[in-house]
Amino acid sequence: MSGPESFGAAGSSASEVPPLVVNPAAVMAGDATVIAHPASRDSSAPEVTLDGQSTPVQETLQRPLTAPREEEIETVSTAEDTEVVLGPTGRPMPDLPEPTPLAAHGHARVISMCNQKGGVGKTTTTINLGAALAEYGRKVLLVDFDPQGSLSVGLGLNPHEMDLTVYNLLMDREVRIEDVVVPSGVAGMDLLPSNIDLSAAEVQLVHEVAREQTLQRVIGPTIATYDVILIDCQPSLGLLTVNALTASDGVIVPLECEYFALRGVALLKTTIDKVRERLNPRLEIEGVLGTMFDGRTLHSREVMQRLVQAWGEKVFHTVIRRTVKFSDSTVAGEPITAYATASTGAEAYRQLAREVSQRCLDA
Ligand SMILES: Nc1ncnc2c1ncn2[C@@H]1O[C@H](COP(=O)(O)OP(=O)(O)O)[C@@H](O)[C@H]1O
Ligand SMILES: [Mg+2]
Repeated sequence: MSGPESFGAAGSSASEVPPLVVNPAAVMAGDATVIAHPASRDSSAPEVTLDGQSTPVQETLQRPLTAPREEEIETVSTAEDTEVVLGPTGRPMPDLPEPTPLAAHGHARVISMCNQKGGVGKTTTTINLGAALAEYGRKVLLVDFDPQGSLSVGLGLNPHEMDLTVYNLLMDREVRIEDVVVPSGVAGMDLLPSNIDLSAAEVQLVHEVAREQTLQRVIGPTIATYDVILIDCQPSLGLLTVNALTASDGVIVPLECEYFALRGVALLKTTIDKVRERLNPRLEIEGVLGTMFDGRTLHSREVMQRLVQAWGEKVFHTVIRRTVKFSDSTVAGEPITAYATASTGAEAYRQLAREVSQRCLDA
């Protein structure tokens, strides 16, 4: 059988893969937070193989969704001394402590938000993860690398009133990055803005020497200033996105918790693998982030279950629930952490900031 089991570390077998739905009663009740025995910890969950072709991931993601089969469901013991709280991804929630204050800034980790599908939460995640990391004292630079300029607009900038943008930085060697960076309105967070001009760069870069390394070259001087640089990619796998991946240490893949959202992921993974092989050996997948999650629908929970089957520990424990507060905060031109500071959306992005810090910033 070529299920999710088949792409784990050598020696893993179907029998070692823990059940993903551990408490059918709780699942049917619509609450993703259930109590389970620690034996259901998924430390043996399949690791995503990052090299080679990704057919098992593809197969897992593209199988039609069905309710879990009887044999996949296990009722668990809830003995008091062994209780573990499962998070919305069906795995035990780890402790996610606040990042420790930094004595000095610099050595930024560069992370791209990447998914060739539009409307999955790339821009929302860039703004709000950045703002939450800034709240925790990190020095953050956001790079708007989508000609639609939604990141810049989402932080209150007018696309028609921009002096210099990422486009000028890419195309004109006289332009220095300090001249393009603007404050974001959030303390500790700056922005490299973009507008529709950037769409011309995609065409013009084709003729450049080292065209894939252009963004890497221009943001290089800022690595020493910031702790984290987040790049908001456009919804395509074209030359701009390849530039972003080449400039990055890691990728976060936001994925809407909806079945059709799973379909393009294998292609995205192949692109990431190719960039790693040919252009940037240090590129890692930091994690897959479930967005627009609705814990009340079986569909959302099934998609989440499928994501964990395919990507194992790469799936962030944090999920971002669907709420209109995100669109409202975009209209207000502010991160949700400022616009609705106590909302569940703001809290979710703070939790993501703690998880990202633990996973790849403070390690
Ligand atoms: N968790 C969420 N719940 C509800 N709406 C959301 C959520 N995340 C993003 N949105 C909204 O969905 C739309 C697309 O999100 P966006 O971050 O712009 O996606 P992308 O950058 O991938 O195209 C925006 O209008 C945004 O406000
Ligand atoms: Mg976007």
